[in-house]
Amino acid sequence: MSKKLIVVVGATGNQGGSVARRFLAAGYRVRGLTRTTASSAATALASAGVEMVQADLDDVQSLKEAFRGANAIFSVTNYWEPFFSGRAEAQEMDISCREYAYDIEFLQGKNIADAAAATVDTLDENGFFASTLSHADKCSDGKFEELYHFDAKADIFPGYVNKKYPSLAAKMSCIHTGYFFTSYNILPDSYFKKNPDGTFTMAFTTIPVKPVPHFDPVGDMGVFTYAVSQMPPGKAYMAAGTTCTWPEFLETWAKINGVKANYKQVSPEEMIESTEDRETGIEVAAMYSYASDPGYDGGMNLLTAIDLQKAGIDCPMTTWEDWAKKHDWSSVLNK
Ligand SMILES: NC(=O)c1ccc[n+]([C@@H]2O[C@H](COP(=O)([O-])OP(=O)(O)OC[C@H]3O[C@@H](n4cnc5c(N)ncnc54)[C@H](OP(=O)(O)O)[C@@H]3O)[C@@H](O)[C@H]2O)c1
Repeated sequence: MSKKLIVVVGATGNQGGSVARRFLAAGYRVRGLTRTTASSAATALASAGVEMVQADLDDVQSLKEAFRGANAIFSVTNYWEPFFSGRAEAQEMDISCREYAYDIEFLQGKNIADAAAATVDTLDENGFFASTLSHADKCSDGKFEELYHFDAKADIFPGYVNKKYPSLAAKMSCIHTGYFFTSYNILPDSYFKKNPDGTFTMAFTTIPVKPVPHFDPVGDMGVFTYAVSQMPPGKAYMAAGTTCTWPEFLETWAKINGVKANYKQVSPEEMIESTEDRETGIEVAAMYSYASDPGYDGGMNLLTAIDLQKAGIDCPMTTWEDWAKKHDWSSVLNK
């Protein structure tokens, strides 16, 4: 019997790379998409046995060709690339770079959905896996109407797909992802700083008592997506290895590193003022506030790894403690 084919968008990145490796290990034929097949990430995947194909999320025809005949498709879009690279274009259009990145991410998601719909008949019953986030505007009843990197994803996955392509929606699973473990050694001092007395302070706008999901995108997006592929379609999930409050999250980190750390809730205005790039400050302050109420998941009833385990599907997720123990924190500790 010939192998099943999964086509992985963003194969050279965190989430897509994880999915490509996991499905390869499961015996799938894996086709990875990239803009640059000659990049080191792309050639490493090719050496591992992934069929790397040139495609651009801005070019729907290239996606249609790349998706043709797929039994499964993994979709991911990246808000932050146009957010940082599109400043001149945004200025020319007289819109903020946050809105500009929304427009690009929305369009790229729409292109993925349009191209996936063109091959819907070849997809497995549960064969379209979309990395997404909750719809902040809708889930907060309009309180967070400008959390662009959440809504750009949710407006397509599931919004546009449900409306435009019921047959694709019937084969789709939406996978929300928690805060990436990989972010904390690159946070600016204003969010995670070393104090003169050697203690550390983490400062976000989220209330200290609200649990939020945390996730290893490189190690676990593949594990989680492969587990989801064994479920019936049409469900929405939260991929997370640990769900805890920020003070708990920080306490785990401090204990591992033998230091003291405290969490400080700041106002959105303080967070924005303390951020070097004001647009980044506005976007992330809104995200951390939204995580207080209704919550990072928008208060949605999302299935988790525990539900997958209960369904008898193996879904071993990396906890924050286990991940943090193995990670080199010298750049943070020696700030
Ligand atoms: N940081 C967090 O805590 C967090 C939490 C939840 C969700 N997220 C979301 O995660 C997303 C980023 O995911 P990630 O970390 O997996 O991304 P990543 O590691 O930065 O990788 C981005 C991937 O997208 C591909 N790509 C970008 N533009 C493309 C284009 N025009 N055509 C074809 N491929 C393109 C890149 O491929 P090539 O460069 O090879 O072409 C690369 O493989 C963001 O949207 C963010 O909002 C982040």
